[in-house]
Amino acid sequence: MDIKFEKLFEPIKIGSLQVKNRIAMGPMGTRSCTHDGYVTDQLLTHYTARAKGGAGLIIVEHTLVTTRHWSSKRITGLWDEEQVTEMGELAEAIHTFGAKAIIQLSLGFGQVGHISRAKDGLVAPSAIPVVIREDSFPRRFPKRLKEIEVRGAGVGPVPRALTTEEIMELEDDFVKAARRAKIAGFDGIEVHGGHGYLIAQFLSPISNARTDLYGGSPENRLRLPLNLIRKTRAVLGTDWVIGYRISADEHFEGGLTLEDSKGIVPVLVGAGLDYVHLSSGGPRSSKWTFPDEEGVIIPEAAAIKSVVSVPVLCPNIYTPQVAEDALSEGKADIVSLARQYLADPEWANKAKAGKIDQIRACTRCNFCSQRVLEGLAIRCPLNPELGLERFNPEYYPIKRKRDSER
Ligand SMILES: Cc1cc2nc3c(=O)[nH]c(=O)nc-3n(C[C@H](O)[C@H](O)[C@H](O)COP(=O)(O)O)c2cc1C
Repeated sequence: MDIKFEKLFEPIKIGSLQVKNRIAMGPMGTRSCTHDGYVTDQLLTHYTARAKGGAGLIIVEHTLVTTRHWSSKRITGLWDEEQVTEMGELAEAIHTFGAKAIIQLSLGFGQVGHISRAKDGLVAPSAIPVVIREDSFPRRFPKRLKEIEVRGAGVGPVPRALTTEEIMELEDDFVKAARRAKIAGFDGIEVHGGHGYLIAQFLSPISNARTDLYGGSPENRLRLPLNLIRKTRAVLGTDWVIGYRISADEHFEGGLTLEDSKGIVPVLVGAGLDYVHLSSGGPRSSKWTFPDEEGVIIPEAAAIKSVVSVPVLCPNIYTPQVAEDALSEGKADIVSLARQYLADPEWANKAKAGKIDQIRACTRCNFCSQRVLEGLAIRCPLNPELGLERFNPEYYPIKRKRDSER
């Protein structure tokens, strides 16, 4: 079969990991695990559908490494040894359909935390509240939700500054969760350092006014992410993938600029990263995190790619030709599709077969994000199967034989 999009279907190595093509499913919280963060059949089949649909790499959603400061409430977790078995089944199921499996690990949300999820108020690098402007949202995005105080426009609650000891505890929690991910059979982890969440808040001058080891100078603001990378690498060895997601341009005054990130990312890579996954913006500029138009993050990916030699992943791609062009023009090494993968799990297979007109195109209506931000299981108006994949027998990797057939 002639493949029209040659670069898209060219294999690539991430560290020592061989990936069959340059198509990743980007991490997306689905609210499909149990209330206390355990894998369900729904979560499993959500990912096997996309692996079966031809993606080379699946990046499993934002997964908490600890519940010290907040509860899970349908966010996946690896804070407990008890969670390893089900996570192992998830990794195994993704592999069964020929994709590689990476899991995104997070220290939580800091100043932009869901207040009802926080156990004892919000904790953050410093006692600085988030300020969100009315004009910072993408089209058709939930602007004011009763339950999600700090996601709406306005000033968020003032968080408590973490103590130095608490930060060190969080580093240990992270490394333990990464170890569990390896035992579970994942091919690697992605540090969630983007989207203005806790790790990003340490890096960003606008949210970190600490005067201890973890703030005060650009070097100190880098200490937490560098420790996470170095300590994980030291415990888990060189032969396992560690990636990092960063909003390279935070797109708000006083936040990280692309120029800042061009200086920071090579330092992070030097600490032991195998890839960098771009994102953009955060809660103060969510129109950059969830862009209405396709391809707007490509120039930021290209800028970061120009300063590092590890693969760079770029989100916000919807059409195979845009993906092919970004890859063949050297602006990114892998495309990571997020909302488009919710609308159509078969994107990669359809692109490979040249059936472009059969791709169910995402319209960026953001119904998916709205559901998830409301704490509800993910849904898509275009794809009635989203969130209900467990009812499709094709997505179960193991067809058990009946005793009489053995
Ligand atoms: C419902 C939903 C949940 C998301 N959850 C995560 C997440 O857990 N971790 C993360 O890094 N990004 C998350 N994102 C952001 C996406 O990975 C992606 O960066 C963003 O949607 C822009 O890419 P797109 O235009 O391909 O959708 C989420 C996006 C959506 C729509």
